[in-house]
This record gives sequence, structure tokens and C-alpha cells, in this order.
Amino acid sequence: MAQKDYKLWLQYDKKTDAELVSKYLSNVQGIVSLGNAETSKIASNELQLGLQNMLGKKFEIKAKIDLDKTVIIGSKALLSAEIQKEIGNFDQINEEGFIIKTIFLKGKNQIVITGKKEVGVLYGVYNFLRLIQTNKNIKNLNIVDSPKTNIRILNHWDNLDRTVERGYAGFSLWNWQKLPDFIDQRYIDYARANASIGINGTVLTNVNANALILTSQYLEKVEALANVFRPYGIKVYLTARFSAPIEIGGLKTADPKDADVANWWKNKAKEIYKRIPDFGGFLVKANSEGQPGPQNYGRDHVDGANMLADAVAPFGGVIMWRAFVYSEHDANDRAKQAYAEFVTYDGKFKDNVIVQVKNGAIDFQPREPFHPMFGAMPKTPLMMEFQITQEYLGFSTHLVFLPKLFQEVLASDTYQKGKGTTVAKVIDGSLTKTKLTGIAGVSNIGNDLNWTGHPFAQANWYGFGRLAWNPELDSEVIADEWLRCTFSNDENFIKPVAAMMIESREAVVNYMTPLGLHHIMDTGHHYGPGPWVSNLSRPEWNPVYYHKADKNGIGFDRSKTGTNATAQYAPEVAKIFSTLETCPEKDLLWFHHVSWDYKLKNGQTLWNGLALKYQEGVNQVKNMQDVWNKSAKYVDEDRFKEVQMLLEIQYKEAKWWRDACLLYFQQYSGKELPAGVEKPT
Ligand code: GCU
Repeated sequence: MAQKDYKLWLQYDKKTDAELVSKYLSNVQGIVSLGNAETSKIASNELQLGLQNMLGKKFEIKAKIDLDKTVIIGSKALLSAEIQKEIGNFDQINEEGFIIKTIFLKGKNQIVITGKKEVGVLYGVYNFLRLIQTNKNIKNLNIVDSPKTNIRILNHWDNLDRTVERGYAGFSLWNWQKLPDFIDQRYIDYARANASIGINGTVLTNVNANALILTSQYLEKVEALANVFRPYGIKVYLTARFSAPIEIGGLKTADPKDADVANWWKNKAKEIYKRIPDFGGFLVKANSEGQPGPQNYGRDHVDGANMLADAVAPFGGVIMWRAFVYSEHDANDRAKQAYAEFVTYDGKFKDNVIVQVKNGAIDFQPREPFHPMFGAMPKTPLMMEFQITQEYLGFSTHLVFLPKLFQEVLASDTYQKGKGTTVAKVIDGSLTKTKLTGIAGVSNIGNDLNWTGHPFAQANWYGFGRLAWNPELDSEVIADEWLRCTFSNDENFIKPVAAMMIESREAVVNYMTPLGLHHIMDTGHHYGPGPWVSNLSRPEWNPVYYHKADKNGIGFDRSKTGTNATAQYAPEVAKIFSTLETCPEKDLLWFHHVSWDYKLKNGQTLWNGLALKYQEGVNQVKNMQDVWNKSAKYVDEDRFKEVQMLLEIQYKEAKWWRDACLLYFQQYSGKELPAGVEKPT
């Protein structure tokens, strides 16, 4: 089983269509690799592996161009003046971009894959191979592409004991006990998979950080990983526990204004950069959910972030400072807190600080309106934080294609600088002209044989990387690509299964939290329904805080008559969210407390509409099962069965969600279930 699953989207299956193979071979007869660097070798070996496996022909890697129809790979500096001239203007790409171009040279047709740097060439090679993986034409190529964000990074919430916070795919990949001398092949395969989708950074440790990672005993191990990842264009970052100067430095305080503390961090940075010259920097969770931070000393987030920024600045490092803050002392509306706290800091952070903001204002729900901070801090680089691991979306048991969710957020219009100022434009810096840009994804990777627990969860890792490269990419394109690279190019498979993936996101919203409901998962683990939970010490940890169901209706009033959270959005957006008439129904109960008899746009009462949405979610999963059951002949038996079993669980649990939520809310609505909704058994 492991073999196919383990290979992710880099299957390079042999093409069985002879006509297609001969078409490819009429364009590709050899490989020429001009570089000798480690990255060049990785690129040429990958090209050789992919071409040989897919086209069933041996390709030698040569250093000189002597044949017709070769794929020539090498960075700009390695290309002859003649080839450079054929390629044209390198200013079209950035430092990590690539150009793939068919050129006519000395009477011969050649394909050149190049970039300003070797890593661009590597990205170009993966792109070229993807064309063949997905059966695309490779005649007369002229592809010019660059990543639209600088930091495209996975956040591993991995602990030093190898447990993974919110991880559902086994234990951490990082085997701290065997590092630095034992290099697990998985580290290399991990780097390769990430490079193939353009991910260029990894935070190795949990945001709820353990200071021990910053001791020399561990830094030696981090260095070993950095050495593995470097040729794949991947930088290593760590989480910094704010109280580390006390815990491992022997100081009495971690006050960011204390000179000894600032010095301690400066020395720590020096020590790290001596080992890892291209160390990326720190990710920090401070004064959130009990984590230490500058506020423990009467200082603020700016003081904390800037002090750390000074420590890494001489080495080119960055500080990714998280805006995920909320406090039990403000029970009014958790959704408002990050904005309220951070927006006043706009323009006050040092240049090498980027504020990392979750996609929504609560916490990685199946659906949240975009976070109001996006576009609201024009003088501060903001990076997106998505969650790839499915903390609130059925762990690695439910099939949910997240790029659809990511796209919905990225395409949301903030209106902060007029119409068309989407979240994607905030993130890629085009709106604010900030130099630092980035997207982070909380990783769903563990040491399971298939990396991500659910075979289809691999698509979420893949899709995250593709969207980090280009935040405007269509999730339907991503689903299509991933399926072709991972399973089959057969149209009879692709069409229904891609549609199933696209629909899977709305399905999970429907059977868990339709019409804007949120955070009604059972407490702590967040798996399964728990709308009734009300006994936790912090009010905002209780699901009842979010749905506020009572005899009059259901939903959280965030309009003017409620907490007025809508006012945190640009006036155009606030106006839409504020009234019942204009608020999109998908967000209705996020922003409004609505009576059970309220008439939805389709004429149904809210109660009936809600119940029917829950039923629709169940039906959608049933439909997913039907689609999958028809796919057996296109998929290897092991992966087919795995997905089949998982879908069966998902179906059972979709019904569990429907029944639990409807029976619970029915106590308040006091109404019968409408026709079309199955009675709970
Ligand atoms: C959620 C999650 C925590 C995590 C936190 C964070 O609350 O449940 O496990 O630590 O987010 O993003 O910091």
C-alpha cells in the first residue's frame, strides 16, 4: 500500500497511450544539465526520473548540447549568450521564478528551463514534468512564471516528544533522538515534495513552543535538517518561546525592554546563524492562550516583535508575529479582539516583522468570513495563516478539499482600497507595496505511511503550495492537476472525482455548521458535534457562546444591535454584513441572531432551511460515496479501499452531526423537522 500512497503527486506513472508517448518523444530526446551545484543535480535527476518513468525510455544526463530536442536546464549565468538571447528578458521573473522556452538553436529545436537562480530551475523542472504528468502539450513552450509571495511556509505544530498538536497523521517526522547523525530518507522526500509545489520554508516546531529547541543540543539537530532542505530551496525557521531567556538562559526576566534580554536574543541569533547561515527566523505566539509574551511585563506586541527583529536583522532573518490573540477578560466578542489589539500598531513594526493572521477571526472553522485585519493595516506586512490539518473539519477521517476554502478567503474583497482589493492582493503585497509577503499553512503531515492520514488530504498540502505560489489560482485547476498527477488522466475518472472534491467543502459546512454557524464542535479535541457544551471555565471556549440558540432564534449578533464586529470591515463590506437583507446567507448566523421563523431567500423558514442544509450535507457525502464507488477501475486497490472506508465513516458521522445538532436546536425552535429531513435513528 505504502508505495503508491507514499509517492504523493509525484507518481510519474508510465503513459500507456503510445501515440501520446511518441508525441512527447518527438520533443524530448535528451537532457543537458549545465550546473554542478547540489540543486542542479536534484533538478536533473528529477527530470531524468520523471521522463524515464513516464515515457519508458532511458535518458542520459549530459553536460554538452549535441543532440536535437534536448531539455537544457541551467540558471541564467550558465547559459551561453546565444541561448540567453533566445530566452529574452530575465526581468520578467523574480529571484525564484523560471522560464521554460522552446528555442531554435543552430538548426535544432531545444527546450530550455532556466531561472535567475538554480532554485528557479528546479521549480521549472517540476513545472515541466507536471505538463507531462497532466498530458499537456509541450510543443512550442513559452512559460514565464514567478511566485507571487516571498514566504511560502509550512507551520509544523510538532512537539519535541514527536506528538503533533492537532496532527492526525501519526507522529512528527522529526526524529530528534536520532538527529543529527541519522538522516531519515523521509526528510529528503519531504523536501522534494515541497520543492515540487514551491514551498520554500518550514517552521519545525509548535507555536506553543518549548524553549529547549533553542539550546545547542537541539540546534545541532536543526542544522542537520537545514542542510538537507537547503538544496531544495527550503529555509528552516523555529518557534521562539518568549520566556526562553528565563527558561534556558538563566535570566530573571524576559522583558523585551531589558538590555540583558535583548542581548540574550542577539547572542542566540548569532549562535543559530553560525550554524545555519540562511536560517529563516522565528515564528512567535505571544500572549495568546496562556503563552508568555511582552504583556507579561507591561509591554506590547510591537515591543516584543521589534526586540526579536533586531536580533535577527543583521543576518537577514524575519519575525513572523502571530495575531491570534484573544483573552477571557473580554467576553464581549472574541472575533473582535485581534483587530482591536493590532490595528493600532500599524506602521510600528520593524521592516523584518510580518504579522501572521488566521484566515478568519475565530479559528479555522469550516467557513469563516475573511479576517477584518486583511487590508486594515496598510503599513504592515500581513501574512495569511491557513490550517491544512483539519482540526475542525473531521481530522484525517473526512474528505474535504481545502483549496476551495482557501480560494474563497483569498478572493474575498476587502474594499479597503476600493472594489477589487481582495485578500489575495493584500497577501501578495500588490495592494500595500510591502516587500515582505507570505502564506503559512499549519501542516497536516506526520509519519503515517501516506504522510497525511487521508489519501485526499495530500491534495490539501499540494493545493496549499500551489496557492502560496499564486494566490489567484483556481481551486478547480488544482483539483484537476492533483488528480492527474496522483491517480489517473482518464477523463471518466477526473470529471466526477474533481467535482466531488470541489463539492466536499460545501458538504462539510452543511453537515457541521451551515448558514454561518461556527465553533460548535465538541470541546478540546474539536471532533464531532458539541453545541450543548457550556461548562468550560472560559466563556469563549463554549459552543453555546457562538450559536446563542434560544426560543427567539439562533446566531451571533455582530451587527450594530449586537457586538458591532461588522464595523471592523471597510464600510462597503460592513454594510453588506450588517443587515439581514444583504448579508450572504452562508454567513447569516455568523453576523445575526435570527428568528426561527425568519424567511430565507428560497422562502423556507430559518428552522426548515437549517434542517434541510444538514440533510443536504449528508446527501452530498452519500453522493461522494457513489462517485468514489464508480472509480475503482481507475485507482489501485489499496487506495481505493482506504478512501472507501473513510467515506463510509464520513457518511456515518455526517448523520451524527445532523441528528445531534437538529435534536439539540429543536429544543429551542420547538418545531417539527420538515419533509425531506431523515428522522434521527
Ligand atoms: C487553536 C488550536 C490550538 C492552537 C491554537 C493556535 O486554538 O486549537 O491547538 O494552539 O489554535 O493557533 O495557536
